[in-house]
Amino acid sequence: MTNHPCEPAVGRSTAALEQAGRRRTFAVISHPDAGKSTVTEALALHARVISEAGAVHGKAGRRSTVSDWMELERSRGISVSSAALQFTYRDTVINLVDTPGHADFSEDTYRVLSAVDAAVMLLDAAKGLETQTMKLFEVCRHRKIPVITLVNKWDRPGQDALGLLDEIEERTGLRPTPLNWPVGTAGDFRGLLERATGIYHRFTRTAGGATLAPEEHFDADTAESIEGDAWRTAFEEHELLQLSEAVHDQAAFLEHRTTPVLFGSAVLNHGVRNLLDTLVDVAPCPPARRDVNGLPRALDEPFSGFVFKVQAGMNTAHRDRIAYVRICSGVFERGMVVTHSATGRPFATKYAHQLFGRERCGLDKAYPGDIVGLVNAAALRVGDTLHVGDPVAFPPMPMFAPEHFAIARVKDTGRYKQFRRGIEQLDHEGVVQVLRSDLRGDQAPVLAAVGPMQFEVAEHRMGHEFNSPMTLERLDYTVARGTCPEWVATLNSQRETEVLMRSDGTHLARFSTRWRLQSVQRDLPEAVLESLTLTEPGMSNTGAFRHS
Ligand code: G4P
Repeated sequence: MTNHPCEPAVGRSTAALEQAGRRRTFAVISHPDAGKSTVTEALALHARVISEAGAVHGKAGRRSTVSDWMELERSRGISVSSAALQFTYRDTVINLVDTPGHADFSEDTYRVLSAVDAAVMLLDAAKGLETQTMKLFEVCRHRKIPVITLVNKWDRPGQDALGLLDEIEERTGLRPTPLNWPVGTAGDFRGLLERATGIYHRFTRTAGGATLAPEEHFDADTAESIEGDAWRTAFEEHELLQLSEAVHDQAAFLEHRTTPVLFGSAVLNHGVRNLLDTLVDVAPCPPARRDVNGLPRALDEPFSGFVFKVQAGMNTAHRDRIAYVRICSGVFERGMVVTHSATGRPFATKYAHQLFGRERCGLDKAYPGDIVGLVNAAALRVGDTLHVGDPVAFPPMPMFAPEHFAIARVKDTGRYKQFRRGIEQLDHEGVVQVLRSDLRGDQAPVLAAVGPMQFEVAEHRMGHEFNSPMTLERLDYTVARGTCPEWVATLNSQRETEVLMRSDGTHLARFSTRWRLQSVQRDLPEAVLESLTLTEPGMSNTGAFRHS
């Protein structure tokens, strides 16, 4: 492929512009179990950041660098925390932000997606598009994030490749434009036909897929003599795709009309290098981000960035709190004093880190697209902007409408101080939403979640990290609506209805059932009961996205 489409324009040679042109910041997203962690590790393996798969996430059965991170995560085999990885490949700096896979953490995934410029969507070759895949495609469409699709697990029996393309097109509305094509059906994976050149990439298996898979390249004639029918079928299908113009178009991809498709097997490391090359060649470099007023913040303006995630207890050796900041403009230098836009106060960045999985190392400079971890940043909340120079603020993070509620109580009243601190911390991080009211007082706040697994994480962390075990009494409320302060008293007088206040200042009326909500709406037609769209239009009150 030729020059990257977003190389800095001639004559603009500031460090921020140049460095932004070298960066690709993306997330790997998928339905759980499609292979997200495996792909993340395989990418790091290919970029020679790690020498053996298993070093980043420490998934069951594979080697782990930090084996004691969150028992809950390990015992459930899920990835609760997001890891940010930075590595260099072909002189391009790759920032990979991992997301939690489980649908219960969709709010967290959404926040991560606000910090990236592209997404790699994994499909399981056998399962195709699953529930969470569809939701994630919808989120990407909503946020206009270009999506590269990787059909993973081609080493196992699965669907027909052309059938998968039809399914993608029909169900997502994106035109799939395969960049490579599998030689051999799912379960009989021989290699990949690179569509732009016609070259055959043949892979050799390595033991357990733990190290790089050797790759050989052949021209079409040699490929046919080696693979026979498997090559002929792949080539015919490739020609068919040419005829139907299923070919990559950079503008259409960036405008979210098409999705380049790749095939591979992350566990065998087959096709992973092709994914890295695709990221370098076609994924966008950081664009000018729009501020809260919709104005683009040029990359070479003074430093600015926003917090998209706050996380504590990432590493038992450092039980502290990291605020992840996505840099939007300018050059970040460790130690620089920036302004915290929410308070207007100065904020010193003495403890800035680059993150690698759960490991971290000191960082001196960072550029647009990079993710910086600020340690012990107690004042920072998700959505906050940091900047240098004239005030700027990026749009706040949307909070989803919760569907699960529980009253939190401290088990040992002697530990109430720790309990309060813990709850406040979980609220700042967005692990759960914390709701309060004058009627209930502060002793037993109501926790609200999009998915019930968020409660498990909260409970676990209160016990293990804040040393203040709590009990959760689940409440039979399933619907929430935003309302105004003047309606609080009236709504509180209704049956099975209660108004609580969230820390972002939203008054949240919750109802036992949809029927109750409808009945209140009938009795009080002028009461303002808004679905919790909050800061982003198009989000439905179930926390998922409406199809338009
Ligand atoms: P996730 O983060 O999306 O949840 O998925 P993860 O990488 O944990 O992968 C889920 C399962 O799928 C794992 O198996 C993993 O080894 C397997 N897998 C991932 N990529 C491929 C692939 O390309 N081919 C095949 N055949 N399997 C793949 P597991 O049995 O659940 O765990 P493990 O013991 O293998 O780690």
